[in-house]
Amino acid sequence: MRVIESISELRAAMRGHDRRGFVPTMGNLHDGHIDLTRIARREVGPDGLVIMSIFVNRLQFGPREDFDRYPRTFEQDCDKCRAAGVDIVFAPPESELYPVPQGYMVEPPAIQHELDGAVRPGHFRGVATVVLKLFNIVQPSVAVFGKKDYQQCRVLDGMVQQLNLGIKMVFGETVRAQDGLALSSRNGYLSEAERAEAPALYRELVSVAAFVREAPNADFRVLERDAETRLRQRGWLPDYVAIRRRQDLAVAQPGDQGLVVLAAARLGSTRLIDNLEVTG
Ligand code: PAJ
Repeated sequence: MRVIESISELRAAMRGHDRRGFVPTMGNLHDGHIDLTRIARREVGPDGLVIMSIFVNRLQFGPREDFDRYPRTFEQDCDKCRAAGVDIVFAPPESELYPVPQGYMVEPPAIQHELDGAVRPGHFRGVATVVLKLFNIVQPSVAVFGKKDYQQCRVLDGMVQQLNLGIKMVFGETVRAQDGLALSSRNGYLSEAERAEAPALYRELVSVAAFVREAPNADFRVLERDAETRLRQRGWLPDYVAIRRRQDLAVAQPGDQGLVVLAAARLGSTRLIDNLEVTG
């Protein structure tokens, strides 16, 4: 496995390899990230290149968010990538990706202002901008993202389609701890008591999804509000519980098929997000 910091060195290392599976991350890797590298390997085959980027992208963090305290564990991350059969870790310093202040931005459509975007203004524009830059640098045939960040998947899939990037987008299922908590780099911020409470968010999604499945004509807005109230009663500060159409994240109406329940809530100082597709 090679660890590469510069764009020119990366390009040289990739020359002659057309099948490139790319997994962009911000590091502090857990089994969810590693699962995406396995999917990438399956996509490109044993002779293809699996490339992971590790870059904490300042552009997607708000001024009062956790950019400075975001966990940076580069050596352990490299060990995990090596064990998982990643070929190249691309870990550029900020000066390599943003040698001048980024003036050209990818402006996603209106969905960028909803759900997580409503709470994190500019977040998805920062994500789309860095991912387009990384795509242009790596020029992957396949890129793999986790459904854990469902709205991110929708925003980036739309970018690839509307900007004709010609990259196959593959979305991996959310990897969870045994108690249901979605793995996340931010779980490390939780105190012991908060960690014990954290799976309640997933349990709430499971119960809302079950209700939607049983009663597809229910008033979804009431279900959303009730779920938020239950979380609040347990000491959470919910940003949203939302029943949306998977395809475009439009607000779901009674009778709609292909739905997903998304939630974001704060537990103490930690903001957790999760979602669950309504199946069956
Ligand atoms: P990061 O939060 O590091 O996540 C990197 C990738 O891992 C994303 O595609 C994310 O959805 C996926 N992921 C996170 N937790 C997961 C889990 N429990 N199961 C499966 N996949 C999981 O998302 C970002 O970084 C950034 O926004 C990025 C796309 C790298 C742009 O900066």
